[in-house]
Amino acid sequence: MNKIFDSHSHYNDDSFKDDYCDVLQKIADNGVGTVLNVGADIHSSRLAVKQAEECDFMYCSVGIHPHDSIQARDEAIMEEIEQLIAHQKTVAVGEAGLDYHYDDSWSPEVQKEAFVKQILLANKYNKPLIIHTREAMQDTLDILNEYPLNSGVVHCYSGSRESCKQLVKMGLYIGFTGVITFKNARRALESLKVVPLDRLLIETDCPYMAPEPNRGKRCDSSMLHFVAQKMADELGMTKDEIIRITRENAERLFNIR
Ligand code: NI
Repeated sequence: MNKIFDSHSHYNDDSFKDDYCDVLQKIADNGVGTVLNVGADIHSSRLAVKQAEECDFMYCSVGIHPHDSIQARDEAIMEEIEQLIAHQKTVAVGEAGLDYHYDDSWSPEVQKEAFVKQILLANKYNKPLIIHTREAMQDTLDILNEYPLNSGVVHCYSGSRESCKQLVKMGLYIGFTGVITFKNARRALESLKVVPLDRLLIETDCPYMAPEPNRGKRCDSSMLHFVAQKMADELGMTKDEIIRITRENAERLFNIR
């Protein structure tokens, strides 16, 4: 049996604080072989590294999410981020990108600056960038055209099929969450079908985005069985094939053996 590679999780989130060890045991007992624990600001990035140091099957990513993009203007923070990126358990930079969903978020100018800084860091350390983009696809594509990435993934893909094609053309991987199991998932499923098999990743984005039939609950990596099954049904493959392919893709992208 192939083991699941969860390419985007947040076990550094407060919601796992009380039963963290139990959750790790539970997912290991349920066919999960590897998790990538993703930082979103300086605090969660520090914790992601610490947790990855302590857990054999966990790797981490370090970066500044658009919601905290102002932190990228702080030189001391960015120096520490750079040190954390160089850590041997850090296999990616991010999550970084653009999010225009909330009115009270940082301005596009601040967000773009943080995004570009992290593109340059990812290229400098030759690690892939984990891209978060929400309601900001055109600006995301423009920045990626101006500052090409060596490698990366657009996580929790929610854009159009046409944008998906452009991102694939840039050499990027595309990550899908439990959103593809939701009733209103038509758009995501259309995009899924234009991603080459060797660029597909599965991810929880836990504690968020629990797939059906667990929608609304706290998510963890064991729920990826539902995501893999849905993907398999859509693509006419078996769940085990999806788990194998997405694991191979993640190991290649994040340079893990
Ligand atoms: Ni995330």
